[in-house]
Amino acid sequence: MCGITGYIGQRDAYPIVVNGLKRLEYRGYDSAGIMMYDGEKIHLTKTKGKVADLELITNNDEKRKKGNIGIGHTRWATHGVPNDTNSHPHFSHSGDLVIVHNGIIENYDTIKKALISRGYEFKSDTDTEVLINLIEEVKKKENCKLGKAVQLALTQVVGAYAIAVFDKNKPNELVVARLGSPIAIGVGKDNEEFFIASDASPFVEFTKDAIYLEDGELAIIKKGKEIKVRKINDDKLVDANIQELELSLDQIEKGGYDHFMLKEIYEQSKAIKDTYRGRMLANEGVIKMSGVDNNLPKFLNADRIIIVACGTSWHAGLVAEYLIEDMARIPVEVEYASEFRYRNPIITPKDIVIAISQSGETADTLAAIKLAKSQGAFIFGVCNVVGSSIARESHAGAYTHAGPEIGVASTKAFTTQITVLSLMALRLAQAKGTLSQSAVNEYLQTMQQIPNQVDELLKIDSKIQDIAKVYKDSKNCLYLGRGFNFPVALEGALKLKEISYIHAEGYPAAEMKHGPIALIDENMPVFVIATRKGHYDKVVSNIQEIKSRKGKIVAIVMEGDETIKDIADHIIEIPDTKEAFTPLLTTIPLQLLSYHIAVMLGKNVDQPRNLAKSVTVE
Ligand code: F6R
Repeated sequence: MCGITGYIGQRDAYPIVVNGLKRLEYRGYDSAGIMMYDGEKIHLTKTKGKVADLELITNNDEKRKKGNIGIGHTRWATHGVPNDTNSHPHFSHSGDLVIVHNGIIENYDTIKKALISRGYEFKSDTDTEVLINLIEEVKKKENCKLGKAVQLALTQVVGAYAIAVFDKNKPNELVVARLGSPIAIGVGKDNEEFFIASDASPFVEFTKDAIYLEDGELAIIKKGKEIKVRKINDDKLVDANIQELELSLDQIEKGGYDHFMLKEIYEQSKAIKDTYRGRMLANEGVIKMSGVDNNLPKFLNADRIIIVACGTSWHAGLVAEYLIEDMARIPVEVEYASEFRYRNPIITPKDIVIAISQSGETADTLAAIKLAKSQGAFIFGVCNVVGSSIARESHAGAYTHAGPEIGVASTKAFTTQITVLSLMALRLAQAKGTLSQSAVNEYLQTMQQIPNQVDELLKIDSKIQDIAKVYKDSKNCLYLGRGFNFPVALEGALKLKEISYIHAEGYPAAEMKHGPIALIDENMPVFVIATRKGHYDKVVSNIQEIKSRKGKIVAIVMEGDETIKDIADHIIEIPDTKEAFTPLLTTIPLQLLSYHIAVMLGKNVDQPRNLAKSVTVE
């Protein structure tokens, strides 16, 4: 989704703001813009396309780069098509105020009509231009300073936002505010300079001190002065909590890989290890998860667990359903957060809601847990981004320790989510006694082998590339799996479609004969996950059914499989493990396959069209 960067200080603001926008490209966007103030004039440059397109314009006109204060934006279109005019930043009617905005102002239409009736004119179709004019109107009417005008205007809007506002008449100041969309402020030495950004990655090399605004807060940032943070609703001053960033530059760079996605696929063995490290002592059979341990009675007395998530995280939730029901014998329901929040669900205080989210900012998942919380449920967050909105909204939780995931297509987030959820299922099974201690020990020891097995699997990358070459021009693909690997089939299909734009469907293998089998002919590749312990014979029968209709079969099997070798067109072997943990392995070749197909088709793997990394709007 949209990204914001900004700088105020003594340095040239342009390279900081523009390089910052490049760091935020992973969020997904379709246009870019920057405002620079050179001490006298505002220069606004914006264009449809990428930050590189923006640079082409500014490189031809040096004055557009001058100044020590600037704000930048990458836009993911919501109101109005992606074009130069709708791109941010936006001027107010007078040309004095400038804004960049992430999020959606839901009541913009009503406000716009009122402003038009009072003589305001609008150039763009955006809700953002409405907001900046509302701020201007309030400022004039109340004869107040920018900070106050922003605050009063925000009390009139409904929706979500992270904004940064500049006023030509107060050029040593930026006003930022947040409701629903994240914004971080980097604090320079002695308050001599400040950085703003949607996350800390744009300023990590300049400062390790950051303030993350909370929902409903507004900050006035003045060069050389301490930041003032206020509550938008009641004007109360709040202590600006300065946190030390743990993020390092190499974590957010490609480190020699062609794409972030490939780097992140290869990081999975480390990410899985980082996620279970400190949470289990495999030889002693100990699992330590404070978020679960401190709330054990709640889990043990729960009527059911409801998992809410979107996209890949929802797939991890489906794996968790199999894990928790099988191991801990607690009923689990898995819901799309976007459906759950609007279907008047029945929730009681004896429900536990687990929200799974890499970004921790997904609007639907956040809204789903707010709803469940208001009805008394206990909320447990499984997030990757520390301090994210979902993590903060949860009563307890467990972070995945995947490190920053920058490729839009989720990879290491998925496997680390499954790692956390597996440990949770085991911890609950241990506490409930639904698994014997020796069984738990065996699971933990098996889990410990997974990182090395992931590394082993990655060694067959060139074989996967060969398979990718064969199927890269397919128009449709089918992915089949059963049990623990049914969600992996869904995830495999999602990975392929989102980065290569090839139509792909995931199905539980046995469902094939209830419809999708009609699609199978000699042009249809079918990727079948057939691990030896997972309803193996039944999946073999499904493979035979595909074969007899001339479908092409790529089978993911456990090492040593002899039966499927004779039937399938291609075989990908995974190392032997417990069936419950096979998703951590079967998913790896499917990620690689999607990656190579997309690269061969010349697609933008890290920033696929129309997609955003963190979906902060509905
Ligand atoms: C797919 C993908 C998306 C996300 C979904 C949820 O590769 O990345 O489907 O999984 O948007 O995002 P989070 O996990 O941040 O809530």
